[in-house]
Amino acid sequence: MQRVHHNLGLQLSGVTKTYASGIKALDEVDLTIGSGMYGLLGPNGAGKSTLMRTLATLQKPDAGTITLDGIDILAEPDQHRQNLGYLPQTIGAYPRISARDLLHRFIWLKGFSSAKERGQEADCLLEKVNLRDVAERPVATYSGGMLRRFGIALALIGAPRLVIVDEPTAGLDPEERNRFHRVLADVANQSIVLLSTHIVEDVENLCRELAIIQNGKIIATGATKDLIAEWQGRLWTKVIAHGDRVPDGSLHLSACPDGTRMVLECKVDPGEGFGPHSPTLEDVYYLALRAADKGVRA
Ligand SMILES: Nc1ncnc2c1ncn2[C@@H]1O[C@H](COP(=O)(O)OP(=O)(O)OP(=O)(O)O)[C@@H](O)[C@H]1O
Ligand SMILES: [Mg+2]
Repeated sequence: MQRVHHNLGLQLSGVTKTYASGIKALDEVDLTIGSGMYGLLGPNGAGKSTLMRTLATLQKPDAGTITLDGIDILAEPDQHRQNLGYLPQTIGAYPRISARDLLHRFIWLKGFSSAKERGQEADCLLEKVNLRDVAERPVATYSGGMLRRFGIALALIGAPRLVIVDEPTAGLDPEERNRFHRVLADVANQSIVLLSTHIVEDVENLCRELAIIQNGKIIATGATKDLIAEWQGRLWTKVIAHGDRVPDGSLHLSACPDGTRMVLECKVDPGEGFGPHSPTLEDVYYLALRAADKGVRA
């Protein structure tokens, strides 16, 4: 297969999707995504899953182009699926066959023709997601977290060039979430891993680059570190005791044991008991949403 090497990575240009209901879930999305782990953040209904299903060629955009390593994935979806691993946000019912048997079938579908290789791939994946001890149990008897891990194994079959994981750690206990993060980081050495999550901290810890999407529009992109560093010295915080009035103008509020923690954006020290606040990706997220609401790009 001929590949255009100066075009390595995933490139989206003008990708737009309006559902029959009239909702514009994707609005002229342009993105360039290189190897490694890339984060996608956005509020509920922003268009993350729509974007991911589109990249998995499960649905077609109304307009726009998408290439992976120079190959037009919309024109050649069958070829693209061989290079793709996709973990959907929700997974339907599973048949009453064992995890190992089901995994074998999917591995076979991915083009592994030798039974020996299928067995090795299954063992390796079951080990990775820590399901070896329960591999002979019917998938239908799995707990939510076990199902999630099984889905992750399916997405990693054959070490795909592009791995898309939509809310992958929802329902995983802390130990399994950490295990999964290590697996993903490992996969990202050779592949493009696109991760969507509401756990902003996960993106901060795992992804070198990210995009923030709201109402189908990309409202911020860049290197995680740079996006955070931009706000150094411009954020302030204080705790407002239970029962006291919360002043206007907060960037975001969160509960803490002594009351409400308020974070404020201000070019100079606002006084009034505020102290400096080290910016986090969560702050960047709220700053981007606020800027988009005001009609300016963060
Ligand atoms: N099949 C569909 N038919 C009609 N509208 C849809 C469909 N799927 C999604 N939508 C709408 O498109 C918008 C984007 O939805 P999408 O599921 O892509 O958002 P999301 O960012 O993944 O949200 P969440 O964080 O809740 O998972 C929403 O307004 C949603 O209601
Ligand atoms: Mg979603």
